[in-house]
Amino acid sequence: MSGTLPFLAACRREPTPHTPIWIMRQAGRYLEEYRAVREKVDFLTLTKTPELAAEVTLQPIRRFALDASILFSDIMTPVEGMGIELDFNPGPVITNPIRSQAQVDALRIPDPEENVPFVMETIRILRRELPAHVPLIGFGGAPFTLFCYAVEGKGSKTFSTAKSFLYGEPDASHALLGKLGDMVGAYLEAQAQAGAQALMVFDSWAGLLGPGDYRRFALPALERVMARIVPLGLPIIYFPNQGSTLLESVRTLPVDVVGIDWRLPLSEARRILGPEKAVQGNLDPAALFAPPSELLRLAGEVLDEAGPAPGHIFNLGHGIERTTDPDQVARLVDFVHEESARRKNR
Ligand code: CP3
Repeated sequence: MSGTLPFLAACRREPTPHTPIWIMRQAGRYLEEYRAVREKVDFLTLTKTPELAAEVTLQPIRRFALDASILFSDIMTPVEGMGIELDFNPGPVITNPIRSQAQVDALRIPDPEENVPFVMETIRILRRELPAHVPLIGFGGAPFTLFCYAVEGKGSKTFSTAKSFLYGEPDASHALLGKLGDMVGAYLEAQAQAGAQALMVFDSWAGLLGPGDYRRFALPALERVMARIVPLGLPIIYFPNQGSTLLESVRTLPVDVVGIDWRLPLSEARRILGPEKAVQGNLDPAALFAPPSELLRLAGEVLDEAGPAPGHIFNLGHGIERTTDPDQVARLVDFVHEESARRKNR
């Protein structure tokens, strides 16, 4: 029964025999088998070729005893169909950044099955090929994070151009955020219909906003996404990266799980979010560069902080680094399973 798989049970705050674990960016360049695929095709081609996208999704599942898999794609993949021109180098690059109301008005809300049929086909292949005990997470970007790339045109530490547009043109910004929210809502719904078993929303740049502006700009568009996907009944994970000062607002969102970056102890996150939310996280990705004994000590601290209550999914506090040794990942996954099971039995 899929409902009893540890990952899905933990999303619902039900007890599990061990703490489930998966790793953000678990498919990627730290794996030599991923680099071998990328030697033959560029990143965009990889995301648009269902057999290859499914293959790289499965790579970490073959290597490690992970409790969930995540569709191989990118948060920016579905924006192309809106009329936002996308490239990767290595992060997203937008060749026609959105900087005016007229550009916002011209954006379309595409039908996901027509816009990104390759994503839906990747999900269908994965549901056939994944072992039955490994559920598949579908995902999308949060409207504010997509807004950051769409307006800035590329990655940035501060996203100053995007934030200037936000404060200088609040009406056009609200319109853009609303359109991105409608697009992501439809996109996630289509992933669920294709077979995704949980849905995750990545808000990688939420931490650029203070709580007031987060409530003013980010939250209304996010609520539009939720209005579309909550009725589907799948577990929903929301990850507000660097969002420790935003959790009071996140608490009111109708999501099952909140991803926590490594800057906030999970006990604090649980205290702010209350007993109705599960938490996911939050080992510092840099811990994987420590000697094995120190890695396991730091992972034990994350288990300590999560405490004995159900509703913890172990993960890193952000994506795994490209230079990580895969053997360290294997050690971490096995340790989390064994140590959490030992603690539950004592
Ligand atoms: O295994 C998985 O987690 C699934 C695949 C996945 C990718 N991107 C593949 C990818 C997921 C879930 C994402 C989400 C994503 N993409 C986010 C949100 C998560 C986060 O990290 O905050 C963001 C902000 C992006 C945008 C993006 N795409 C960036 C910043 C980059 C460059 C990353 C880098 O490390 O240089 C990408 C490209 C990208 N997306 C890669 C991968 C594996 C590297 C591409 C390559 O092979 O060259």
